[in-house]
Amino acid sequence: MAGHENGAEQPPSYPELELPELLLTDAIRELHSVIENQWDPLRLSACQTAAGRALWKHAVNDPLAGVLAGETYLRRLHEKMKNDHLNNAREVSGVILAVRTLWFDSKIEAAISSFRKRETQVVMLGAGMDARAYRLSCLKDSEVFEVDFNDVLQVKTTLIEAAGGQKPSQLIAKSVTRVAADIREEAWFEKLKQSGYKTERNTVWVLEGILYYLSPSQAMKVLNIIAGMCDHANTVLLADFMNKPSTMLSNSIFQFYSDWPEHLLPSLGLPNVKLSQIGDPDANFGLMNDDPINLFNKLRSLPRTLQINPEDGTPCRRLYLVQASSSPIQDLL
Ligand SMILES: C[S@@+](CC[C@H](N)C(=O)[O-])C[C@H]1O[C@@H](n2cnc3c(N)ncnc32)[C@H](O)[C@@H]1O
Repeated sequence: MAGHENGAEQPPSYPELELPELLLTDAIRELHSVIENQWDPLRLSACQTAAGRALWKHAVNDPLAGVLAGETYLRRLHEKMKNDHLNNAREVSGVILAVRTLWFDSKIEAAISSFRKRETQVVMLGAGMDARAYRLSCLKDSEVFEVDFNDVLQVKTTLIEAAGGQKPSQLIAKSVTRVAADIREEAWFEKLKQSGYKTERNTVWVLEGILYYLSPSQAMKVLNIIAGMCDHANTVLLADFMNKPSTMLSNSIFQFYSDWPEHLLPSLGLPNVKLSQIGDPDANFGLMNDDPINLFNKLRSLPRTLQINPEDGTPCRRLYLVQASSSPIQDLL
C-alpha cells in the first residue's frame, strides 16, 4: 500500500513472510537443518521448487508446500520477490515455477480425462516435494508413484505425517507409493514395477524439473523406457526441457538439454508432441504481463534457432513445456 509521510511517496510495502506453524516446532526445525546440512544440490532443488509453490499461493493451491520447503528456502525466495516488487521488476522471482506447476496440473488433468475413466497410473520421476497426490482432485482414481532418492522420500513422508491431522495432509489420490530409486541407474524401472506399477495400465509420466539433472545418455535411457511403454498402454509424457543456452551458465549442474524436443520424442516412439513456452496461451495463467519487453515475450518473439538475442547479445535461455503421447494430442486438450 502506498504511504504518504511529510508529503513524500513511500515505496509500496510488501507483505511479511508468514511461516506455517509446524515449521516453528523443534522436531521440524531439526529435520530441515539435516536437509540443509546434508543434502546435495540435486536433492535441495526439491525444497526450492516447493518454496516457489508456497509463495505463489495466490496462483497455486499447495497447502503443504511451505512445510516441505522449510524456512530457509521460504525466506530466500521471499526476499527475492520483495526486492523484485520494490524494484518494479518486469518478472517476479518464482513466476516460472508457478506457471510450470499450473501447466503440469492442467495437463495431468487433461491426460487423465483423455483415458476416459479407465484405471490410471501417474508416475512422477524426481517427485521431490511434489504434493499433487494431496491436492489434485483429478487424481482421486489414480495410483500415484513418486520416484526419488531414498533420503528425500523419507524426509518427505515424515514431514507429511507431521502435518497429519491437518486437512491438507489427507491423501486425495487413490494411492501414493514412494519408490526409492536413482533414475541414473537401470534398476529404477524394475523397482517401479516391483512397487506395483503395471506396464499394461494407462500412464501419465510426470518429469517436472528433472531431465536436465541427468547426463544426455541417462536422460535418453529414461525417455526410451517411457516411450517403450506406448506399445503396452496409452502413455502420456509431460516434461520440461531446457534448451542448450539454459545449461551453459557457469557452475551449472544442468547437463541434458534439447533444443527440439518435438523432433526428439517422435524419433523415440512418442509421435504426438505439443510444445509450449512460458507465456504461451496454455502456459500463462494470467501471471505474465503483456509488456512486449517482458523476458518471456521477448524470447517467444525470437526464432527458436537463435541461441543469442541479436538485440542485446544475451543468451536465449528457454524452458520448453512438452506433452507427448501415443494418441493424438487433441484428445488431451
Ligand atoms: C527440481 S526438483 C523437482 C521436484 C518436483 N518434481 C517438483 O517439480 O517440485 C528435482 C528432484 O529430482 C530428484 N532427482 C534428481 N536426480 C535424481 C535421480 N538421479 N534419481 C531420482 N531422483 C532424482 C531430486 O532429489 C529432486 O527431488
